[in-house]
Amino acid sequence: MARMLEISKLTIRNFFCLREFEISFQNRGLVLISGPNGSGKSSIYEAILWCLFNRTARQSRVDDVVNDIVKKDCQVIIDGYLNGKPLKVSRFRKHSVAGNDLVVVYDGENFKGSPSEIQLQLEKLVRADFNQFLLISSFIPERIRTFAAATPAQRLAILGGILDLHHFDMAYEYTRSRLKQYQVELASLEKEISVIERNLEGIKADIDYLERNKAKKKEEAEEEKHQLVLEKRRLIYRIKQVQKELERFQKGKAVDYEAEERKLKEERNELSSKLTQINGKLHSLRQQYHDLQQIEAKDYIGKPCPVCERPISKNLVHRLMQDHKRKMSVVSRQIKTAEEEKEEIENRINELQKRIEYLATEKLSQEKARIQYENELSNLRDKLSFVQNKIDSIEKDISTYDNLLKKRYKDLKKNRKEIDKLIEKQNELNHKIELYEIIKEMFGKKGIRFEYIRQVLQKLEEETQKILYVLSSSKLDLEIEVNNKEEIEIKVYRTGIKKRYEDCSSGEKHRIECALAFGLNRMARSFHLMSTNFLFLDELFDRALDVEGQEKVFEILQQMEREIETVFVVSHRPELQSQFSNVVVMRG
Ligand SMILES: Nc1ncnc2c1ncn2[C@@H]1O[C@H](COP(=O)(O)OP(=O)(O)O)[C@@H](O)[C@H]1O
Ligand SMILES: [Mg+2]
Repeated sequence: MARMLEISKLTIRNFFCLREFEISFQNRGLVLISGPNGSGKSSIYEAILWCLFNRTARQSRVDDVVNDIVKKDCQVIIDGYLNGKPLKVSRFRKHSVAGNDLVVVYDGENFKGSPSEIQLQLEKLVRADFNQFLLISSFIPERIRTFAAATPAQRLAILGGILDLHHFDMAYEYTRSRLKQYQVELASLEKEISVIERNLEGIKADIDYLERNKAKKKEEAEEEKHQLVLEKRRLIYRIKQVQKELERFQKGKAVDYEAEERKLKEERNELSSKLTQINGKLHSLRQQYHDLQQIEAKDYIGKPCPVCERPISKNLVHRLMQDHKRKMSVVSRQIKTAEEEKEEIENRINELQKRIEYLATEKLSQEKARIQYENELSNLRDKLSFVQNKIDSIEKDISTYDNLLKKRYKDLKKNRKEIDKLIEKQNELNHKIELYEIIKEMFGKKGIRFEYIRQVLQKLEEETQKILYVLSSSKLDLEIEVNNKEEIEIKVYRTGIKKRYEDCSSGEKHRIECALAFGLNRMARSFHLMSTNFLFLDELFDRALDVEGQEKVFEILQQMEREIETVFVVSHRPELQSQFSNVVVMRG
């Protein structure tokens, strides 16, 4: 953006020899500031410099500016616009109210801070330093050799500010740092990518291995599982068998043995008591028999009858004896019957005993068998659970294997996605780096900055040449170029012969400087750089310009007037007054 300082009014009090002075800058056209030496003509521009930069072209010390007579209340006020917005700068020195203050109001806003801080803000706002401002807005004898007499490197430094070359440097620095940042980012990204790539390799190898072994392993596992399932079925079948067996056993035991044993024992007990009875009976029968056996016939003979007490007759004895005999045979038969019965019972008891014993052993053996079955059953169940566990573990193995593979595929997908993202980022970065490398080159040496300087200098050369031709009646020519070191070289030619600036006459130097002053000003304007609405040309006609030269300068001034609102021409030569319609006369 062009930086345009437009002064509308300059108010001066007690600055150098100027006690009370006010001058308008608005649409004045070509103005002659006339007056004798020491009347304060140059002080007008000095006042502007002092107000804006706290410096003068003649390099006064701080209090030198204060009027010697009043010795106080020195103040310069610039009223105007900067980039179209109102600006008012007031600087005071030894002022009875404001002291040594600086007051800047821009666009309705009062700058804050100490005078030196405000000074910095002001220069930043105007975007020109003292030297640049001089170069753009004036032609004054004190600064006449600033540009031409400077070294090539100094010339670039002088122009650098006006051309805002630091923007290029900033852009270059910015680009360089961005580029570096992108390169660092890229390096770390590439590292990241290579890590993931290595990961991917590992995952791929895993998957490869798992896939290759999957079928085999699965087959093996399935086969083993098949065998185990068969075994399981066998075990279950056997368990069922044994369970049935056991059930049968338990049922058998309940019906066959215990009840029978009980019955047998009951019977045996019954028989035993019967036997005891029979034994008793037998005993009494035998006693009876024995008793009967003891009775003999002689026992009765001659003995009185127990009933009638008469001696027992032989006949009676005989009858009695026969009776005895009958009785004995009856008892004997009874004994025999009892004995037979006893034998029978004893046999039966024996039989029962045997049966009971048989049952006892049978029961024992059955119990043994049951225990055996139970043991077998528990063994079988153990085996079954073992087999089941094995089947489970094989199934788990197979599913673990599948899960592992699944997981690795998932990892693969994830890593691929990640790497794709990173590669996309890498591409973006590469693209940016490419771009920034181009931009860096653009802003670097020999880039657009160089091209810009070259073009600006071309304009400067063109403008300066035009004026120098006029001023020197085509005798002088110059070339302004930027060399490889970005320094500005000025070559002067007199009637086609190359000359050193230092070897030129003072008149020639004056013409060259004058031409350069116009050239620089026009260059700045045509490139929309820092500019002012006025030009201050001090002693333009007063030195080493012949009449022809003067006329030529007038031609140029008339041209300039069309471009610049106000052109002040300072001269102490009163004869010039007739040539200006607008004249300010300084009385000293
Ligand atoms: N502090 C000052 N107080 C009063 N006059 C001063 C002061 N400093 C310089 N001068 C005088 O002011 C005049 C400078 O004016 P100047 O603008 O250079 O004159 P010219 O019209 O020749 O350009 C000189 O006469 C000088 O002696
Ligand atoms: Mg002067």
